[in-house]
Amino acid sequence: MKTIHAIVHAEKPELATIWKAAEIIRAGGLVAFPTETVYGLGADAQNAEAVAKIYVAKQRPSDNPLIWHANNLSAFEDVAEFGDKARLLSEAFWPGPLTLVLPCKIPEKMQPPLKTIAVRVPSHPVTRALIKASGCIIAAPSANLSGKPSPTRARHVMKDLNGAIEMILDGGSTSKGLESTVVDLHGDTPRLLRPGAITLEMLQAVIGKISVPKASELEGEAPISPGMKYRHYAPHAPVILVDEGQAHSIARDYEADGKSVGILETSKYESLELAAQDLFDRLRQFDEEGVAIIIVEMVAEEGIGLAIMNRLRKAASEADAIVW
Ligand code: TXA
Ligand code: MG
Repeated sequence: MKTIHAIVHAEKPELATIWKAAEIIRAGGLVAFPTETVYGLGADAQNAEAVAKIYVAKQRPSDNPLIWHANNLSAFEDVAEFGDKARLLSEAFWPGPLTLVLPCKIPEKMQPPLKTIAVRVPSHPVTRALIKASGCIIAAPSANLSGKPSPTRARHVMKDLNGAIEMILDGGSTSKGLESTVVDLHGDTPRLLRPGAITLEMLQAVIGKISVPKASELEGEAPISPGMKYRHYAPHAPVILVDEGQAHSIARDYEADGKSVGILETSKYESLELAAQDLFDRLRQFDEEGVAIIIVEMVAEEGIGLAIMNRLRKAASEADAIVW
């Protein structure tokens, strides 16, 4: 298959291009598109054959369900049960980088038969234009091959999925750079399943108590977030997490042994938001350069720092990192 690579204006996407992408979605094909978090790989959520193609293209285990994307809450009223907390969070943070796991109202979903469904209303103009033009709810995981870091640039998607999908809408780099915050609201106490740009502190300010389970605490339960069963991205080279200011002296020890070292100094960014935006791109670059060791400065686990450390711990393969 020849993948169409179409450049689109990120703020004011050209309608002819969006229309072409929407036709592909309506016809049961796959389109990768930018969102405010990472690039997604979209299909018509209610077309089982189209959704199945996502799993093939990404080589994703078939029991790992997808997030459904629509332009407003009312599009989800028939598929998900919105309680008080879900409504409060959606009012506060939608459209935006927040995914809610809610009781599922669809008796026979196309997805593996979970009792819950993950829904999100994205804010990126390209995503919104595509949803509107297609007239569909769009099911979309991150547009990477399973086991690779989520794509934050169109070239990451090309590297992983060129030839396997119909089209890529290239709207430049994504602004947040980390996948959406996932909050599970189906039980008694809300749980943070994946930290992201909507921070724990922001969520607590709206709905109060939220638990932050560790992967080991969820073991043995029916899968809360099936994603946790699968090995998350880890670069080829071992990742070593060090305190701020330590990266170069530790790197010198490895270099003295003749090893090539990739260094990521998170403290050199003007803000943690900018470090988050760059993180997956840097990890992909280290793999491409073929470095022997990757040394990354840790950040404080508060605000967006919780999400950054979560992805870094996964990259460093720390066993007890919280779910994502
Ligand atoms: O920012 C994002 O969330 C991006 C963009 C494209 O929206 N999407 C994304 O999707 O990161 P994905 O499939 O790569 O990650 C979704 C996570 C997975 O860990 C999946 O297991 C979990 O959400 N998930 C999906 N449905 C769920 C459900 N019903 N219950 C619990 N976890 C669920
Ligand atoms: Mg993903």
